[in-house]
Order: sequence, then C-alpha cells, then structure tokens
Amino acid sequence: MPSFVLHLGSKLLLKTKGLVEEPDLRNLEYLQAVVKETLRLHPPAMLGVPHSTTEAPKVAGYDIPRQHPDPKVWENPFKFDPSRFLNSRMDVKGQHYEILPFSSGRRLCPGMNLALVSVAYTLAQLVHACSISLPEGLTPLDVDVEQRFGITVGKRNPLNLLLTRRLPSDKSD
Ligand code: HEM
Repeated sequence: MPSFVLHLGSKLLLKTKGLVEEPDLRNLEYLQAVVKETLRLHPPAMLGVPHSTTEAPKVAGYDIPRQHPDPKVWENPFKFDPSRFLNSRMDVKGQHYEILPFSSGRRLCPGMNLALVSVAYTLAQLVHACSISLPEGLTPLDVDVEQRFGITVGKRNPLNLLLTRRLPSDKSD
C-alpha cells in the first residue's frame, strides 16, 4: 500500500498509510492551529450565552469591546491566519483571556475537551482521507464563510465542496 502525506496549506502534517488515529492529533500542529483560528474568528457559542456582550460596556474602568476581534490583541484581526498560533503558547482552554471560545473559570464549557478532540479528529480524517476540491469554476475566494447567528453560530450558507476518497477502500481501516 502506498503511503500518504497529509497536507494542509503548504504544511506537512502527517505521513501514514491508514486513517488518522487519535494519538496522531498531538503531532498535527498546523491542523490544531487551524482549529484555534476558526474558534477565534467564528466562536460557535458567541451569542448563545446569556451574559455575552451585545453592546460595548465598561467594566471596572475597562472598555469591553462588542464581540469582535480586538486589533490591539490580534494583528490583522479579520484575516484567517492559523500561523498566528504556531510557536505560540496561546491556547483556547480558558487560560488566555484574548481568546475564550469555551469561556473560563467556573463557566468553562464542560464539553471543551470532547469538542476539541472531535473537531480536530474529524477535520484531520477528512483532509487526510479525501481529496477536497471546489466545484468547477469556483475559486477559494468564492467560498462563503459568513455566519448566521442563533443559539449557536453556524454557516449562513452550506459549504459546497467536492470530496473524493484518496485512501484505498480497505475494510481493515
Ligand atoms: C466547539 C464546541 C463547543 C464550544 C465552542 C462550546 C462553548 C461553550 C460556551 C462558551 C459555554 C458557556 C460558558 C458560559 O456560560 O460562560 C458552554 C457551556 C456549556 N457547554 Fe459547551 N461548547 C462546545 C461543545 C460542547 C460539548 C461537546 C458539550 C457536551 C458534550 C458541551 C456542554 C456544555 C454545557 C453542559 C455547558 C453549560 C455549562 C454550565 O452552564 O455550567 N459543550 N459551552
């Protein structure tokens, strides 16, 4: 069986013949950075919590911006750039107040670890096992990443991609 190399962007992530295993996830530094960057730009529970900010309040003398990435904290805050999390200790687990998609302290999401493993595992499996392309005539700039707000934040329009399996079909996977 040939060996397959998992790429995401230009970064080499994983070399394996079979499906991605959970222990592989800790080696997928760039993929983990993609998950963090997605949670930074599109926090799924942004408006779902009753105490999130809908206006820009002042707390203990500090101006709390209305929900949007703060340009004082993030360079090019609206740019999707996973590399900002490479060689960085910043995590999404409630210790770094710049990015709190799971909240922090007593309000920390109890499903955080399950969510982080599930998201990284599913994404790794998809990009490893499938060739992903856009429908004919579309370029990456045509991909709609707009959000729709609700109890959780989701995509406004469904993602339109073509997936073809590139790992050999093998029942022992
Ligand atoms: C990417 C996925 C997820 C995100 C971004 C997320 C985020 C959050 C946030 C921001 C809160 C509110 C914390 C607060 O009140 O300040 C929360 C609460 C909660 N989450 Fe999650 N969550 C995710 C997945 C999950 C999963 C997979 C589970 C369960 C298996 C879960 C269970 C809960 C529960 C039970 C609460 C309420 C905790 C409480 O009120 O004490 N979440 N989550």
